[in-house]
Amino acid sequence: MKDHIIKDINLADAGKQRIEWARRHMPVLQKIKEQFENEKPLEGINVVACLHVTVETANLIHALRAGGANIALAASNPLSTQDDVAAALASEGIKVFAIKGETEEQYYECLEEALKIKPHITLDDGADTIALVHSKHLELIKDIKGGCEETTTGVIRLRAMAAEGALKYPVIAVNDAETKMMFDNRYGTGQSTIHGIMNATNILFAGKTVVVAGYGWCGRGVASRARGLGANVVVVDVEPRKALEAVMDGYRVMPMREAAKVGDLFITVTGNVSAIRKEHFQVMKDQAIVCNSGHFNVEIDIPALKVLSKSVDQIKNDVQEFVLKDKRRIYLLAEGRLVNLASAFGHPPEVMDMSFANQALAVRYINEKGRSLENQVYRVPVEIDKLVAQLKLEAMGIEIETLTEEQDKYLHSWTLGT
Ligand code: NAI
Repeated sequence: MKDHIIKDINLADAGKQRIEWARRHMPVLQKIKEQFENEKPLEGINVVACLHVTVETANLIHALRAGGANIALAASNPLSTQDDVAAALASEGIKVFAIKGETEEQYYECLEEALKIKPHITLDDGADTIALVHSKHLELIKDIKGGCEETTTGVIRLRAMAAEGALKYPVIAVNDAETKMMFDNRYGTGQSTIHGIMNATNILFAGKTVVVAGYGWCGRGVASRARGLGANVVVVDVEPRKALEAVMDGYRVMPMREAAKVGDLFITVTGNVSAIRKEHFQVMKDQAIVCNSGHFNVEIDIPALKVLSKSVDQIKNDVQEFVLKDKRRIYLLAEGRLVNLASAFGHPPEVMDMSFANQALAVRYINEKGRSLENQVYRVPVEIDKLVAQLKLEAMGIEIETLTEEQDKYLHSWTLGT
């Protein structure tokens, strides 16, 4: 097994500085790290982590290592790696296999290399490790106690596997912890998606019509941040309850075929394929900008856009210009990959503090329970979820109300109705 595949080890010092800065904004994870240092709950456990290689992930890796784990880290997206972070971790002896801008082929080579650690636990952001193990490395399954999954798209894939009886080890859906999705997906994706778009384009949001496709946790965050900057936000969703929520939140709601005509900027966060496709490109305004913050680069039908175009040019970093046959121009950001990670730093450390606190505690949980669990997708135990919230509040210096004995009794009784 190689020690690492990274861009440049000389970037390590810069990475270390940024990791340290993030650490200072991740107090809950630090508390867990200290506990892990004392108790060593992961001694001798091999972990493959297929996560976005960011400063926040580096802090998770430090916490797991403090607990005694041996870790191999690969990127969970070819464009999301922060090369200085990969270098910093490699310089500390952690096995890292990730280079920003790697090809699809290199991406899988890196994941294959990471799997050589022979994992007992797999961590995913998008389920690629689990998919690879279940398709090409069945021999590893006997030693794997379980896995953890970080994002909505991964959880959807894994639930589909479990429903077909294809999942061969238990997985914790870290994404579904309330202290993850309510904050990471909403506030993290909301802010960092706008940051990515600004970095790539420096456009003014005020006065623009911004179309947000998908009004789930991520979409709500993106829509509210775009509105906060003065954009007129249009929401597109296929689920009547989400669409209704968007209406009552004060947004215009319409199908994409209508939104396509009025939008200046389009942001997809559906976790689905082809939310924007041929018939939509055909009616878009000249110079419309399209980008994606959902997990995979399938939400915008890029092959269809290519077919409609007479030329495609990389006109600046992270901006491709598609000139259609009728001369309209459509700009695609970050090749349709997660714009918040490809063109900005991804989620802020304050929200990743909670997501990765859940990850770290879920790793400990799966290590303890392992194969006593069924080959299903489990939610993060509610005690862990509440503990993470409690620790975060403490770190923020916020005290909350507690139930009196009378109130507690009232809430647990059916006889005390009046
Ligand atoms: P969610 O399930 O809460 O919301 C998705 C929404 O999209 C739902 O309301 C659904 O009805 C809607 N939708 C599905 N197909 C659609 C279509 N064709 N057109 C319009 N709307 C459609 O999921 P969540 O948590 O908001 O995640 C969305 C995506 O973002 C996933 O791929 C997830 O993995 C990813 N994600 C990305 C992050 C990032 O850093 N950029 C962070 C967290 C999640």
